Amino acid sequence: MPNQPCCIPDRVFVVLFVLQFACVVIGLTESRSFTIGKNCFLKDGQPFRYVSGTMHYWRVPEQYWEDSFVKMRAAGLTAVDTYLIWNLHEQEPGDFYFGGNLNFTRYFQLAQKNGLLVVLRPGPFIAAEVDLGGLPYWLVRKNPDMKLRTTDPSYLHYVERWYNVSLPLVKPYLYANGGPIITVQVENEYSAYGCDVTYLEYLRDMFRRLLGNDVILFTNNYAVPQYLKCGTCPDTLATGDFGTNSISGGNISFYLDSLRMFNPDGPLVDTEFYSGWLDVWGSPHSTLSTSEMLDAAQIFMDRNVSFNFYTFHGGTNFGFVAASSQGPFQPITTSYDFNAPLSEAGDPTEKYYQIRDFLGRYFPLPPGPVPQPSKKGAYGSVQLRFAGSVYDNLKSLCPGGPIYSTLPMTFEILKHGHGFVLYRSYISQTFRDPTVLSIPGLHDRAIVLIDQVPVGIIGQGVGVLKMGIFVQPGQALDLLVQNEGRGGFFSGGDVKGIIGNVSLDGNNLTQWAMYPLSLPNFPARAPQTIKLKRNTPFGSKHHELRLPGFFSASFSTPEVLDTFVQLDGWTNGYIFVNGHNLGRYWPVQGPQVTLYVPAVYLNSGKPNVVDVFELENAPCAKLSECLIRFVDTPILNATVPVGLTEGRILKHSYPPKVQRPLS
Ligand SMILES: *[C@@H]1O[C@H](CO)[C@@H](O)[C@H](O)[C@H]1NC(C)=O
Ligand SMILES: *[C@@H]1O[C@H](CO)[C@@H](O)[C@H](O)[C@H]1NC(C)=O
Ligand SMILES: *[C@@H]1O[C@H](CO)[C@@H](O)[C@H](O)[C@H]1NC(C)=O
Ligand SMILES: *[C@@H]1O[C@H](CO)[C@@H](O)[C@H](O)[C@H]1NC(C)=O
Ligand SMILES: *[C@@H]1O[C@H](CO)[C@@H](O)[C@H](O)[C@H]1NC(C)=O
Ligand SMILES: *[C@@H]1O[C@H](CO)[C@@H](O)[C@H](O)[C@H]1NC(C)=O
Ligand SMILES: *[C@@H]1O[C@H](CO)[C@@H](O)[C@H](O)[C@H]1NC(C)=O
Repeated sequence: MPNQPCCIPDRVFVVLFVLQFACVVIGLTESRSFTIGKNCFLKDGQPFRYVSGTMHYWRVPEQYWEDSFVKMRAAGLTAVDTYLIWNLHEQEPGDFYFGGNLNFTRYFQLAQKNGLLVVLRPGPFIAAEVDLGGLPYWLVRKNPDMKLRTTDPSYLHYVERWYNVSLPLVKPYLYANGGPIITVQVENEYSAYGCDVTYLEYLRDMFRRLLGNDVILFTNNYAVPQYLKCGTCPDTLATGDFGTNSISGGNISFYLDSLRMFNPDGPLVDTEFYSGWLDVWGSPHSTLSTSEMLDAAQIFMDRNVSFNFYTFHGGTNFGFVAASSQGPFQPITTSYDFNAPLSEAGDPTEKYYQIRDFLGRYFPLPPGPVPQPSKKGAYGSVQLRFAGSVYDNLKSLCPGGPIYSTLPMTFEILKHGHGFVLYRSYISQTFRDPTVLSIPGLHDRAIVLIDQVPVGIIGQGVGVLKMGIFVQPGQALDLLVQNEGRGGFFSGGDVKGIIGNVSLDGNNLTQWAMYPLSLPNFPARAPQTIKLKRNTPFGSKHHELRLPGFFSASFSTPEVLDTFVQLDGWTNGYIFVNGHNLGRYWPVQGPQVTLYVPAVYLNSGKPNVVDVFELENAPCAKLSECLIRFVDTPILNATVPVGLTEGRILKHSYPPKVQRPLS
């Protein structure tokens, strides 16, 4: 269908007439309306098209939200776009949290203060490369057969409870109520998962009940007919999610024409116009050329399309927030830089300046200086000391002690959403040498230890779920199981830990003790430091270096600036600064080599504490080499190794020679 000019419908003239004579009387709030016109939105009755950018509030430290908004507005954007992330707001059933880095009402206020409207995408499923696509991991605890993202009443009950709590916080911030929110999305790319319009209608009606009628509801789908057919819903605006050819594999005009078939005369919107792309561990860093992107944006300009840069400021997957990609199984990197116009640390990039020049040709840019990158700290090397193995610290990592059960339990049943669980079973019979350890339901990765000595790593990542081991009766078989992130894309569910049985030569092992490890989570509601055996002299016979284990240091910086931590020679683990979980590092896998350390996580005027939880191999045979480095330039694009590093057998301790009593 040809483009329709953005004309002003008759009733708008009435509104304008009324405003001219009566706006003083009816007041400003009365005049606020955001509605659908012909090939455009109508903002207070005037034709309007927005250009927005995604910045997820949980991916950028709350102290930096405003800085990001200022830079977005300075680039000519008129709106900001975010999801609501249910699984961080309700980490355990009924325990809601809306403070700190999750205070989205503050995000709305700051956006508005800085001249930005808000496009809100409350889910419930959001994808977004976050654990289980934003759904809480505990949903399936009571009912393992729960059908996520359907009209299954056991699922909808929790969805409704979440919105009963969260949407009343949103409602005062709708445009018609004086706030910045112009549109609200129903579900997310639903057609990539299902084709159940009843479910979409249920959500639509619930949003109407909780938000009222004065807001535009919309759906977003890959903009080709077969997807649009399944993911759209009556009385919502059909929008598309598509990037340029090298990202989405199609052409912009085709997507817009497809969208027109499902949206005959409303505004055309690209809700996810990709500015770059995500990274997974073990694959090359993704980039997108600015010129390719702006050629497409030119088409949007010519056709009055509203569009959203996904992302404009990608930020960081702090803590255990990152999802994994399924089939093939690949965990998402800690950095969510996305090759976006604002870097992970919020610095304008070349892409940013080119977008600003481009938008400046169409829209007035606000006065004020052109944003510049901020200074970064290159604090240099910090020497770490061994702070005990996972066993040395087990009491403080698992203060409640183990949970016992005949058969292994999943993370979901153990009420331990993220990170690590140490599973232990004692060998009670004689097996041949070697015997085959098999864990077909391992999600996702396990370090195998016999009497606390690591003997191998198996995991989903390389599809190696069995290995040969040497064991004797009485020995402890330990599996330190790591959750590498639940599926985040089309998720119908992803349970973690050991699902089903662990067998040795076909014999299922029973009598398990399970130690959920409590590590600082994100976002922290209160300071969370790990109680480690930090000050034991390195190499003393009470404290032999054993892995998996912890390494710590205290350090001060001459000034407090954003910085990046580089872990040369380290292998795979998590790093914590002053109790802030900076996320996973895995430099041997790449492409990400440095982790972002926001200045607001560092102390001014007192020393900082850094703790590294290394799972595999630390460069600490010599104290002088047991270093991490704080550098001023991120490395997100290292060459990735050919073939994965995991799945290998640790030959040096195989078969185990050292027998140790259990602590
Ligand atoms: C775009 O909108 C402007 C008014 O805002 C209008 O003059 C123009 O005709 C529209 N173009 C198209 C292709 O709809
Ligand atoms: C969110 O921020 C607002 C504005 O700063 C504040 O008034 C409110 O108390 C905060 N909410 C929570 C739950 O901390
Ligand atoms: C949500 O709120 C409505 C209206 O107050 C109420 O009828 C319903 O039971 C609530 N649902 C849940 C799951 O709490
Ligand atoms: C892009 O799509 C349009 C509309 O569907 C079509 O006319 C055009 O030939 C396509 N261009 C390319 C390069 O494939
Ligand atoms: C695990 O093994 C036990 C004991 O052999 C058996 O009773 C149980 O059914 C097995 N579990 C599964 C999920 O097959
Ligand atoms: C052992 O567990 C597996 C599932 O992991 C099950 O298929 C098998 O039947 C079990 N074997 C016995 C003897 O119970
Ligand atoms: C990584 O990016 C930097 C900066 O753009 C570039 O100089 C470098 O060559 C890239 N490295 C690799 C391995 O691609």
